[in-house]
Amino acid sequence: MRTRMIAGNWKMNTTLSEAKNLAQSLTTISSLQTEVVIFPPFISLETVRTSIQNSQIKLGAQTLHHEEKGAYTGEISGPMLKSVGCEYVLIGHSERRQYFNEDNALLNKKIRAAISHQIIPILCVGESLAERENNTTLDVIKTQLLETLTDIPYTNMIIAYEPVWAIGTGKVATPEQAQEVHAFIRGTLSEHYDQISAEKIRILYGGSVTPQNSPSLFEKPDIDGALVGGASLSTESFINIIQTH
Ligand code: 13P
Repeated sequence: MRTRMIAGNWKMNTTLSEAKNLAQSLTTISSLQTEVVIFPPFISLETVRTSIQNSQIKLGAQTLHHEEKGAYTGEISGPMLKSVGCEYVLIGHSERRQYFNEDNALLNKKIRAAISHQIIPILCVGESLAERENNTTLDVIKTQLLETLTDIPYTNMIIAYEPVWAIGTGKVATPEQAQEVHAFIRGTLSEHYDQISAEKIRILYGGSVTPQNSPSLFEKPDIDGALVGGASLSTESFINIIQTH
């Protein structure tokens, strides 16, 4: 049985005080059946950690550098994230791939770095609109998975399927479209690892998730939760998504 996860990716939003207020407003959540993780900007991690310390909410980071330390101006490493209480880290969000040229080989290093510091990686995959229209979605997803997971043994990890055309566009994948890709991801993981391991890996859907569309998405057998962007910046929307039955 996979525990549902609702993850809130705040992206480059919230000042320090806004982050603190948003985190505090979420601490009333008590939902034993759902794991809730928020991903604030780096500079707010410590403040948010303090705000949520007596709640069920967990902390994650939006990316990390694959080296432990050194002359990498502006970067943040695994040990730093661990020291501020991050249990999860997003790896390969499509915005990182697109705007910061992160390719699968680099993401492979980042996943290794996360694992070596006991931070659970949430690997993001997803096709562009052109790739979906060319009917290459499944090939693209398979390549992203196999290249990023090359020589990485099975471990506690999470996959997020985020079709690029659905991110921030209000254009959500239909539950059927999402389920098809989620089942394909699980099949690919089962070939890459084994079936028992693949059954344990949670696969989240991301891309314009709202309280309105979450119920039909979560009915699907391979959709184990959501990676929420815009709607995670509103306390009411995020809590409503968490409380989806
Ligand atoms: P939106 O929910 O704003 O579409 O963003 C999805 C996302 O990219 C989460 O990582």
